[in-house]
Amino acid sequence: MAHATRVSRRHDLPERAATAAQYFPARRTLPALRRAAALCRACPLWERGTQTVFGEGPPDAPLVLVGEQPGDAEDRAGRPFVGPAGRLLDRALAEAGLSRDEAYVTNAVKHFKWVAKGKRRLHTKPSAREVGACLPWLEQELELLRPRVVVLMGPAAAQALLGRAFRLTRHRGEFVDSRLEALVTATVHPAAILRAPTEAERRRGLDRLVADLQVVATALQEDGRR
Ligand code: URA
Ligand code: SF4
Repeated sequence: MAHATRVSRRHDLPERAATAAQYFPARRTLPALRRAAALCRACPLWERGTQTVFGEGPPDAPLVLVGEQPGDAEDRAGRPFVGPAGRLLDRALAEAGLSRDEAYVTNAVKHFKWVAKGKRRLHTKPSAREVGACLPWLEQELELLRPRVVVLMGPAAAQALLGRAFRLTRHRGEFVDSRLEALVTATVHPAAILRAPTEAERRRGLDRLVADLQVVATALQEDGRR
């Protein structure tokens, strides 16, 4: 007797109902998407963060930079990469000959996830479910922006778009295959560089980030000449 094939459910994806897509506006423009994201409650993180931190930058930016999630400063300001990690990112971009003005900067997860440690709010890693719930916002940003290059900073951003099997340590700084039309590459996260225990390690981390961004700068230049 023929049995219907049982397809096992993908466990790395969230339940259909619990994703940001249900909050999408009827007309999908970046400003409308940003307003809709401010009201998102697709995962429990909306309650702990001060506000949704949506991406920002020129709508015709050739380059999109994707971090993990807002930090303490970003949560307060409502803007991505404005704290210590943002300052390091600006420095790395400048050293690579790029400017923040030509990039749209965003995060895989748009609320700050944290635990209290005394008076400080310590960043904690978003779960796969939270990343999955939030991913539709990022996918829509990328669909509307259609950038030439996407830089995924850190394993959370890389795995959100490239799959959980992606290994940053192995493929850092390469352009990798993806379902996006853009050139896609992954690099270290500026916040991880800041967390490195010694000055020498921080310097090495920054050098790596700059080297990877130089590859991006070259690709953008070549693309611009075509
Ligand atoms: N780290 C991130 O991943 N994103 C920010 O916006 C700030 C720090
Ligand atoms: Fe929505 Fe993302 Fe915030 Fe979760 S983290 S509530 S999915 S915007």
